[in-house]
Amino acid sequence: MSAEHLRLGVNIDHVATVRNARGGAYPDPIRAARLAEAAGADGITAHLREDRRHITDADIEGLMAALSVPLNFEMAATDEMQRIALRHKPHAVCIVPEKREERTTEGGLEVAREENRLAHFIAPLREAGCRVSIFIAADKKQIEAAHRIGAQVIELHTGAYCDAHAEGDFQARDRELEALREMSAFAHSLGLEVHAGHGLAYDTVQPVAAFPEVRELNIGHFLIGEAIFLGLEPAVRQMRRLMDEARA
Ligand code: PXP
Repeated sequence: MSAEHLRLGVNIDHVATVRNARGGAYPDPIRAARLAEAAGADGITAHLREDRRHITDADIEGLMAALSVPLNFEMAATDEMQRIALRHKPHAVCIVPEKREERTTEGGLEVAREENRLAHFIAPLREAGCRVSIFIAADKKQIEAAHRIGAQVIELHTGAYCDAHAEGDFQARDRELEALREMSAFAHSLGLEVHAGHGLAYDTVQPVAAFPEVRELNIGHFLIGEAIFLGLEPAVRQMRRLMDEARA
């Protein structure tokens, strides 16, 4: 297959983390979203967590009003989040597992075990015109279940691949990468659009960006960290350049 344009979704959650460390309004995630957009982001991702530890309801409202690229609204499968998504009708909704005690989204969603509930949960979101994405591990059972419940998109969790790379366990890293490669092709063969993300950085992005079935990468923490050293626009531009290079 020919490699179509690989979209970059910039996750701005951690601009809000820094803001919330002091309260107040600075730094403003919406200003960051606009800069990311100017630097070549194809979309902005924001996760409204149940405990509002970073992004707030007002941020989602502000992003919906300010963005000219699509918003990918990450949320847990709760009634409260469904109501918020149905009020804003963002371009995309990404359903993620959420545990209060975790530092970040640790694993993928257990779709297979909750098929019925999730099928009912996403139906109104689809009817409202949102593209529904399910964040899952590179696991055939979960991909098949995501397909059965009517999701249009899956996002593959790249955390285990990135962790293995960071730990220098290259055998595990290559195993994880191979699973991501195989499962991208499998999901695509079912007609699902394939996205990927979590933990990606300059030194891990290219092998994933090279998978022709992957249409979008969502990247946050590393880019916001790198923005401290380079500025946000150069950091996003460099990620964009690496993605394009891997795709060429
Ligand atoms: N994709 C999903 C579904 C996520 O939950 C996250 C983290 O919020 C990301 C991508 C981005 O991960 P990171 O911030 O590690 O780049």
